[in-house]
Amino acid sequence: MKIYCEKDYEAMSRRAAGILGAQVILKPDSVLGLATGSSPEGTYRELIRRYEAGELDFSKVTSVNLDEYKGLSGENDQSYRYFMNTNFFDHVNIDKSRTFVPDGLAEDSDKACAAYNAIIRREGPVDLQLLGLGYNGHIGFNEPAAIFEKETHCVDLTASTIEANKRFFEKEEDVPRQAYTMGIGNIMQAKKILILVSGEGKADIVAEAFCGPVTPKVPASILQFHSDVTLVGDEAALSKLMERLNK
Ligand code: F6R
Repeated sequence: MKIYCEKDYEAMSRRAAGILGAQVILKPDSVLGLATGSSPEGTYRELIRRYEAGELDFSKVTSVNLDEYKGLSGENDQSYRYFMNTNFFDHVNIDKSRTFVPDGLAEDSDKACAAYNAIIRREGPVDLQLLGLGYNGHIGFNEPAAIFEKETHCVDLTASTIEANKRFFEKEEDVPRQAYTMGIGNIMQAKKILILVSGEGKADIVAEAFCGPVTPKVPASILQFHSDVTLVGDEAALSKLMERLNK
């Protein structure tokens, strides 16, 4: 695993945009696995800046997102489709018909998951998968569980995730209780993984995920078995991992 320890969120975002940008320059028709949330927002801003400066071209890129809340349409401003459009896709020359996010409005969960797995198989393999890390160790919405789920599935969100995500909603009751997410197997099939972490609040789970035992109770710990992981974080989020590595 490669680790980049950056001074702060902005430096983390520049580093991550550099890695994603290099991927697109070296392989213009890359398949990017994308994430939402606070961690990649700055990265998307930096990619847009580089696109506007004429440094990047997304016209041949395909993207597959990790997850979507069940019950929200793409027009809902809390949906992950809406996040992706407003934070990234609307500002670059990516072909929107080549951007994929699970269908939050699909009522039949089994069909929705099978359809998304088929898209991942058809468009994949993912060249570079961008990830954030939940406070409980989740990646995508793969919550701590008894087993690692392989493929796209419908999950009940944990209290910790609902608590962490309520900041985006007017009230906690508005946070959807279920989501569609790529499985751990889908994520592990990506050729390269780029995971972003920032803030002191993530320090314990970062150390646990990368130095602790590999267990579905800490879903991100599976990344210890992936052969090409780059972890980019700010000093605060990486502090405890560095302590453990330097022991
Ligand atoms: C988002 C996703 C989640 C987030 C994680 C961290 O698509 O799949 O796993 O990456 O919850 O969220 P932030 O970055 O908001 O701390």
